[in-house]
Amino acid sequence: MERKRNQSAHAVAHANFALVKYWGKRDVALNLPDVGSISITLEALWTKTRVTLDATLADDVFELDGRADADAARRVNGTLERMRKMAGVATRARIVSRNNFPTGAGLASSASGFAALVTALDCALDLGLAPERLSELARIGSGSAARSIYGGFAEMHKGTRPDGSDSVAYALHEPDFWPLEVAIAVSDRRRKSVGSTEGMLRTARTSPFYRAWVENQAADLDLARCAIAQRDFEALADVSEASALAMHGLAMSARPGLLYFNATTMECLHRIRALRESGIGVFFTVDAGPQVKAVCLPGHADKVADALADVAGVGDVLRSGLGRGAHCLPSGPAPDLGPA
Ligand code: PMV
Repeated sequence: MERKRNQSAHAVAHANFALVKYWGKRDVALNLPDVGSISITLEALWTKTRVTLDATLADDVFELDGRADADAARRVNGTLERMRKMAGVATRARIVSRNNFPTGAGLASSASGFAALVTALDCALDLGLAPERLSELARIGSGSAARSIYGGFAEMHKGTRPDGSDSVAYALHEPDFWPLEVAIAVSDRRRKSVGSTEGMLRTARTSPFYRAWVENQAADLDLARCAIAQRDFEALADVSEASALAMHGLAMSARPGLLYFNATTMECLHRIRALRESGIGVFFTVDAGPQVKAVCLPGHADKVADALADVAGVGDVLRSGLGRGAHCLPSGPAPDLGPA
């Protein structure tokens, strides 16, 4: 095999969260989803990753937020092997990655993480892959990462092919198509107790409602796609809240049931419903953790953020607009892990 030396690339990818949720896998080894999903990408939450191919290394080295991370190294190993094979390269890599937000706490760090990784590797290995192929590679690491390849609004397709080549995400709209704003109420920065893969497998195995969830998803995806295309906030609020609550209801119906909410989560949901009834353009969604994501009409996020900051148990309220897709950054002499 050809050996490439000290080739380096630096990429940024932004976190995304789903409005129509992904929960369930049709194939565990390839990480193929049992349902499609629709997401928005967030400008303010990002992972920056530098990949350096280094012929002097005997093994890959992975550093996350300033520390060697063996668990994360195991998770990224498959992606590295796959992409090196595509490039016909055997050289080991040093990967330095940084999140500007808490890792593994239901804030989609695996989504931005894997999207940044495949984008940086694509540049370092000179592969020049199309976005759908990067999306496919990101998906193998983390299902939601397939969507972080794109900015604005993205849709992940469940796909039907056994090899997963059609289980990829596509762009729906650029961020400026409908510049929604987001406020995230953070009530617990610790890693979640049950990871999403384990949670999904347990749910599919034990919930009596799993098939109904899968069968209903196409209808919710249609509703959300149309609501976004027509910039119909009420319709998007209805389907997004329904999807989030159905996902959590489903997870709670696993045995033993999965409880990602804490008391603060519930209080935030009530607060957001009350704000909407008072005429503010806002709805909620929640992922596999207690943080509440409030999606707001442009100009409405200040009031929402103030109201959420007032809820007992809310530590921080993060703010974001819609973000760009993953991309390589100009390479500097040293890892530039400053602001995006
Ligand atoms: O792909 P994962 O393991 O990050 O799972 C994502 C699961 C949810 O965040 C709960 C839903 C979603 O669609 O992002």
